[in-house]
Amino acid sequence: IHVIFYLLSFLLILFLFISILYIHSSLNCRRVSGSLKQIDAGNGQVFGVNSANKIYTLYSGTWTQLSGSLKHVSVGPAGVWGVDANNYIHRLNHGDWVPVNGQLKQVDAGGMISPAGVNMNDYIYCLQGGQASSWTSLPGRLKYYSCGPNSCWGVSSGNQIYIMKGVTSNTCAGSLNWENVSGALSMIEVSTDGKVYGVNSSGDIFGRNHFNQPYRTGWRQVPFRQKVKHVSYDLGHLWVIGTDNSIMDCTE
Ligand SMILES: *[C@@H]1O[C@H](CO)[C@@H](O)[C@H](O)[C@H]1NC(C)=O
Ligand SMILES: *[C@@H]1O[C@H](CO)[C@@H](O)[C@H](O)[C@H]1NC(C)=O
Repeated sequence: IHVIFYLLSFLLILFLFISILYIHSSLNCRRVSGSLKQIDAGNGQVFGVNSANKIYTLYSGTWTQLSGSLKHVSVGPAGVWGVDANNYIHRLNHGDWVPVNGQLKQVDAGGMISPAGVNMNDYIYCLQGGQASSWTSLPGRLKYYSCGPNSCWGVSSGNQIYIMKGVTSNTCAGSLNWENVSGALSMIEVSTDGKVYGVNSSGDIFGRNHFNQPYRTGWRQVPFRQKVKHVSYDLGHLWVIGTDNSIMDCTE
């Protein structure tokens, strides 16, 4: 009797486990009010900018506007960073935007300490410790660059995908050796827990869910009803911006 009981419990647990895996493979999305052209989720916070470059953050479930004007904003362990319409860089410090040396068209705060980004000519930079006096330059050119716990991922103007490994709190530039990844994406985002999501130039979403070593697995298309232009993942939520600037909050 005991053996049968244990066997049944085992089968039940196995069944529950498989169901959870199955549920995991389909997205559950809800439309969020408002419209944004870009969104970034990290460190438990969500920031975004709209087509008029107004800045918003999700506070108690509603969008709260911040002062200032940015075309791209990023939140993560490195803080809250953004770039304005003239590519000037700003960092949020106790609720105020503080100008930072240099010019970038896109900045990412996903690294543990150091922000990183790309400039108008697709040159790649990171700021050692988040407060060095000048940006460290990386080899190569990318149009979009995003960092996670140990590595940063980027896409080139030709939509080729590259990884920079060996990024630590002391070496924001990493190993300086780019590794190319198969596939083609027009934007890419690495989450605080190291998951990687991106959008291809047709507006389809791709992800890599292998926790510790996302670079060891392949891309999997994330089924989605509409075409999208931007995604960002944090704490089990995939935030999606449609080509019409609609906002969706999805869980897998
Ligand atoms: C990396 O780039 C080289 C040269 O462009 C190419 O031959 C190779 O197939 C690429 N590897 C992957 C995994 O895409
Ligand atoms: C984007 O992904 C979809 C789905 O895999 C594919 O059909 C389409 O060709 C891709 N677009 C480009 C430009 O690679």
